[in-house]
Amino acid sequence: MKKGVSISFIFCLAALCAVLVLERNSSAQQQAQESCITEKCHSKIGKEKFVHGPAAVGDCLSCHEKKGKHSFAPIKNVGELCYKCHDKVDTKKGVHKPVRDGNCTKCHDAHQSPFKFQLRANGSDLCFLCHDKKLAAGKFVHGPVAVGGCSMCHNPHQSDHPKMLSAIGNDVCFQCHTDKAEAFKGKKFAHSPVKDSCINCHSPHSGEYKFNFSADGTQELCFTCHVDKKDWIASVKVRHGGLETEKKCLACHDPHVSNFVKQLVRQPVESCNMCHDRQLDTQDGKIANMKEYLSKNKNQHGPIAQGDCSSCHNTHGSDNFRILRKPIAKAFYAPFDPRNYELCFNCHEKTLVLDPKTTTLTGFRNGDQNLHFVHVNKTPKGRTCRACHDAHATNNPKHIRDAVPFGAWGLPVGYEKSQNGGSCLPGCHQKFGYDRTTSVKNR
Ligand code: HEC
Ligand code: HEC
Ligand code: HEC
Ligand code: HEC
Ligand code: HEC
Ligand code: HEC
Ligand code: HEC
Ligand code: HEC
Ligand code: HEC
Ligand code: HEC
Ligand code: HEC
Ligand code: HEC
Ligand code: HEC
Repeated sequence: MKKGVSISFIFCLAALCAVLVLERNSSAQQQAQESCITEKCHSKIGKEKFVHGPAAVGDCLSCHEKKGKHSFAPIKNVGELCYKCHDKVDTKKGVHKPVRDGNCTKCHDAHQSPFKFQLRANGSDLCFLCHDKKLAAGKFVHGPVAVGGCSMCHNPHQSDHPKMLSAIGNDVCFQCHTDKAEAFKGKKFAHSPVKDSCINCHSPHSGEYKFNFSADGTQELCFTCHVDKKDWIASVKVRHGGLETEKKCLACHDPHVSNFVKQLVRQPVESCNMCHDRQLDTQDGKIANMKEYLSKNKNQHGPIAQGDCSSCHNTHGSDNFRILRKPIAKAFYAPFDPRNYELCFNCHEKTLVLDPKTTTLTGFRNGDQNLHFVHVNKTPKGRTCRACHDAHATNNPKHIRDAVPFGAWGLPVGYEKSQNGGSCLPGCHQKFGYDRTTSVKNR
């Protein structure tokens, strides 16, 4: 008996509860729908293209807590409210400030909007609600920025990478520029700022110059870091025409990666011969077609055989004749002064021309008479090194020239080598010989 009573009691109680709960639920929904969205009140909610889930079903009270008959508690913490139903979007290392502050509704309309995700504006316009439009206002605008695709690189909420970026470092760029990622792989040398970050040079957003640079990429951009080069080039007396072509620095250098030293676009010698494959005009007269000259003259001077033109020439210009790194007398005669030959003495011993007698310093001697001393160490009419030697290449041994430029004349040297010496029959004197073991008696 006791058992029957209690069962029916519990049953009644459960039924009552169920009815109550049902009634409460349906009345809450009805109340919301009926009393919130009517023709007169809140009629606009639901009319935009994108309506937020709970607002769409009229569940106003899931967000607005009712206080009186038609009064609602103000929503104090929007972020917390959103996180009741959504996953947190502020858990990564870098969180966008408005997200961190829980200001979700600065970007999302809680009810509805004409834009996907109930955003308050479309594409970059959303970002420009708070950020300066100048960012994208350069004359050249980067592809994704031009189409409003800020989110292609930045996550609007958070990221584990700085600046809410979608990837780290240069990988941000390589996501789309896969051809560059391929091209840069496996190259021997990478320009230091490229290794560091593409945005050292390219703005990811926009710039006043082609490729979104802040300065012209063929030269001025380079000068922003290579200030020493800028100063040097501006100050030298002999400028190199190679720097003044349309491509400026990029005629010789690759700004990104290279298989050759110093970011050169080709092997060093080949990079010179890109232009020196023809005769050229300079302020100091015509200059030889160096490519042709080198292919015709097989006996190359040490540094050239090593592929190094820069040991003697400063490609970026110099105060010396022919952009040489060190002074060299350019005429046939010069009064003796070791400073006239600094270029050669950079690598060869000065004593070559200082000691009148020697059995070791040079092979250019007659017995122990130093013929370098005889010819060079004279005032006023010392012969310069150029009078006998060609700095680049010859078909004669010891880089002795076939002929020397003597005014307008090509003065033949007429050099012949012998086992212990040699002889010349130049325009200057009759045939003279020299021998290192048994000195020759010339008249
Ligand atoms: C997802 C939560 C959410 C839902 C659902 C919601 N609201 Fe709101 N509502 C808000 C928030 C948040 C604000 C404060 C506005 C802000 O911060 O931009 C707000 C503001 C309002 C305001 C103040 C005026 C305004 O538009 O800013 C009214 C009125 C309003 N809601 C009505 C409604 C009605 C009616 C419904 C149901 C159809 C509804 N809300 C559903 C979150 C919600
Ligand atoms: C009561 C639960 C609830 C609350 C609170 C709530 N939402 Fe929602 N939200 C939803 C539902 C349900 C959807 C629809 C989900 C769907 O369509 O997949 C939705 C959809 C969205 C979407 C679109 C997602 C998509 O993939 O299309 C955004 C954006 C959004 N909510 C932002 C917010 C923001 C911001 C807040 C705080 C102001 C908020 N929500 C609060 C339930 C909620
Ligand atoms: C600075 C603007 C901004 C703020 C602030 C912001 N969002 Fe968003 N949110 C967006 C944008 C833009 C998208 C669209 C992302 C896309 O295109 O993939 C989005 C998408 C969403 C989505 C749907 C897509 C997804 O990622 O799941 C949800 C949900 C969402 N936001 C919730 C929130 C919540 C919750 C907050 C506050 C804690 C918030 N948002 C703050 C800009 C914002
Ligand atoms: C509601 C205003 C607001 C909107 C809208 C907004 N931001 Fe921001 N954003 C900020 C604030 C505030 C900061 C912090 C600025 C600071 O620290 O100087 C910030 C910082 C940033 C930063 C730098 C983050 C860092 O770690 O230094 C980036 C990147 C950024 N926002 C991108 C965006 C993008 C992309 C959008 C559009 C999807 C956007 N923002 C929309 C307010 C906004
Ligand atoms: C191609 C990728 C890419 C796109 C697209 C992009 N950004 Fe950025 N953004 C970056 C990178 C990379 C940085 C980091 C710059 C830095 O560290 O100096 C950055 C930095 C920022 C910063 C922080 C600036 C600062 O000085 O700290 C803001 C704000 C920003 N972007 C907003 C935007 C907005 C708004 C858009 C769309 C109009 C956008 N970004 C589109 C890559 C991008
Ligand atoms: C979301 C894809 C995307 C990302 C990420 C991206 N780019 Fe781009 N980038 C493009 C598109 C699209 C173009 C336009 C292509 C065109 O006009 O041929 C472009 C053009 C460029 C150009 C000019 C190319 C030209 O021929 O005019 C440069 C330079 C450039 N991007 C550098 C970068 C750098 C640096 C980064 C990283 C900060 C980056 N990009 C990240 C898509 C991207
Ligand atoms: C030292 C400055 C510098 C850095 C750093 C740099 N670039 Fe460039 N970039 C240039 C210059 C200069 C040009 C113009 C090349 C030309 O005119 O031949 C260029 C051109 C480009 C172009 C368009 C032309 C082409 O070659 O297709 C793209 C794309 C590009 N860079 C991507 C990148 C990426 C990706 C990174 C980072 C991995 C990067 N750049 C880093 C200076 C730089
Ligand atoms: C953002 C600064 C920056 C810009 C812009 C820049 N460079 Fe550099 N560059 C460097 C740094 C840093 C080094 C490494 C210097 C060092 O190792 O002493 C370097 C090295 C070089 C080297 C020597 C490479 C080697 O292997 O020793 C060359 C050549 C060069 N840069 C040319 C250029 C040219 C040409 C431009 C313009 C297209 C340019 N740089 C623009 C910073 C820059
Ligand atoms: C005609 C070819 C050519 C042009 C044009 C050129 N360079 Fe060079 N550059 C070279 C060569 C060759 C080297 C290697 C020199 C060496 O090995 O000592 C070099 C080396 C460099 C270096 C490495 C440091 C050094 O002096 O060894 C920098 C930096 C540099 N160049 C910057 C520039 C800049 C900036 C421009 C544009 C103003 C430029 N170059 C134009 C040929 C050129
Ligand atoms: C992009 C084309 C170009 C490249 C590459 C080039 N040059 Fe030149 N060079 C010229 C032009 C043009 C002249 C003559 C114009 C002038 O002097 O105004 C010249 C002149 C010279 C002169 C004579 C300078 C004088 O005025 O007396 C020497 C020496 C020289 N180059 C050496 C080199 C060397 C070494 C290299 C390689 C490191 C090289 N050049 C690469 C274009 C180039
Ligand atoms: C050992 C030093 C040295 C080396 C290495 C060197 N040069 Fe010269 N170069 C000179 C001297 C000295 C002159 C002065 C004129 C002369 O003697 O022909 C000169 C002059 C020139 C001239 C002007 C020629 C003329 O007809 O007046 C060009 C062009 C030139 N060099 C290019 C190059 C190239 C290209 C390389 C590398 C393949 C190179 N040089 C390597 C020392 C050198
Ligand atoms: C950058 C260093 C360098 C400079 C500058 C230089 N030389 Fe040389 N020279 C060499 C090297 C290396 C050799 C080869 C040495 C060897 O094979 O024993 C060489 C060889 C020679 C030889 C031939 C030696 C032989 O036994 O075949 C002559 C002649 C010569 N140099 C003359 C000159 C003259 C003249 C100058 C100045 C215009 C000059 N050199 C400037 C490095 C230089
Ligand atoms: C009058 C012609 C003449 C002049 C001027 C001249 N040389 Fe020589 N030089 C020679 C001859 C000839 C040889 C070859 C000697 C031998 O091995 O038979 C030679 C050889 C050399 C050698 C190879 C090593 C040695 O001494 O045997 C060097 C290095 C050299 N000269 C440098 C110079 C330098 C530097 C100058 C200018 C300061 C210069 N020469 C001026 C004719 C000359």
